[in-house]
Amino acid sequence: MSDKDVIILGIESSCDETAASVVKNGRVIMSDIIASQADFHEQYGGVVPELASRMHVDAIYPCIDSALKEAGITINDVDAVAVTYGPGLVGALLVGLSAAKGLCAVTGKPLVGVNHLHGHICANYLCFPELEPEFLCLCVSGGNTQIIHVKSYHEMEILGKTRDDAAGEAIDKIARVIGLGYPGGPKMDKAGQGGDVHAYEFAFNHMGDTLDFSFSGIKTSALNQINKLRQKGEDIDLCNFAASYQHHIAKILADHMVKAVEMTGIKTVCLAGGVSANTFLRKAFDEASTKHDLKLYYPKLRLCTDNAAMIASAGYYEFIGGRSDDLSLNAAPSLKAGR
Ligand code: KG4
Repeated sequence: MSDKDVIILGIESSCDETAASVVKNGRVIMSDIIASQADFHEQYGGVVPELASRMHVDAIYPCIDSALKEAGITINDVDAVAVTYGPGLVGALLVGLSAAKGLCAVTGKPLVGVNHLHGHICANYLCFPELEPEFLCLCVSGGNTQIIHVKSYHEMEILGKTRDDAAGEAIDKIARVIGLGYPGGPKMDKAGQGGDVHAYEFAFNHMGDTLDFSFSGIKTSALNQINKLRQKGEDIDLCNFAASYQHHIAKILADHMVKAVEMTGIKTVCLAGGVSANTFLRKAFDEASTKHDLKLYYPKLRLCTDNAAMIASAGYYEFIGGRSDDLSLNAAPSLKAGR
């Protein structure tokens, strides 16, 4: 570590992962600690917000301690503390935010609020040293589906977004209905491996000339097929159904991205967010990038889902861009990308 290095402690608690990480110069991970609550929430079939907040309270300081220890530094070596302030569950966000504010109040270190969605995009910077804006990014998670034009480290424009359900929500919901449980996305991905992607057909919602998405009709057409088969006493072929459904969603996402490339002329494309771990999505984008000569990036699996290294990376670019928040920074549960 040299004097010129900028060291950021990142803190994340927007949903059901408590995480802390130390990142150097926005690109080099010195530690990356994640305490996931997913196994605990499985018994309820989804995240219970109040319980998530309480578990964050128990985990937050041990995570921060471990992140500093693993990086071989103390809080005094940190240049700034970056923390997710939205979007997410308000009670969960407040735990990370309060911990970060406490650290900054005691040490006098700058506080940097980070938009969780920008964090997901920055996961790509941690994996690909050569990647720099500008590029197009498909941000797909449990609550968001957006095509974002990343113009610089600080400037972003949403080119298209879902008008109803997020892609992750559409996958999670159907996973629950076909009995795969929670978390639905990874289980659905596994269930569909080797399946026939053309065995079942689903609705396709045309959104005219826009880059917007709609997944509620697709979800309803999947539900109708499941119900019809059940009424006839027939079982769905789980593997083929999971494969066809995910392939259908992945193809829509990839087709929209190709349209965005044609509209903007930008041929560098990134994936970000929890659903970018999906193998059907990655395959659809791999195929599209070969066919349309795109430069495609997606983060390694651990950095696709919630983590604090991506928050520290986003915090670095905010910090060197001059952002510093005061201790009145509040949680913003509905924060949008680009803000
Ligand atoms: O980005 P993330 O960790 O949290 C949010 O900010 O929402 O994304 C969580 C979402 C969930 O919907 C989860 O089911 C989904 O990412 N997910 C996947 C896979 N891994 C995680 N969806 C499909 N296939 C996967 N392999």
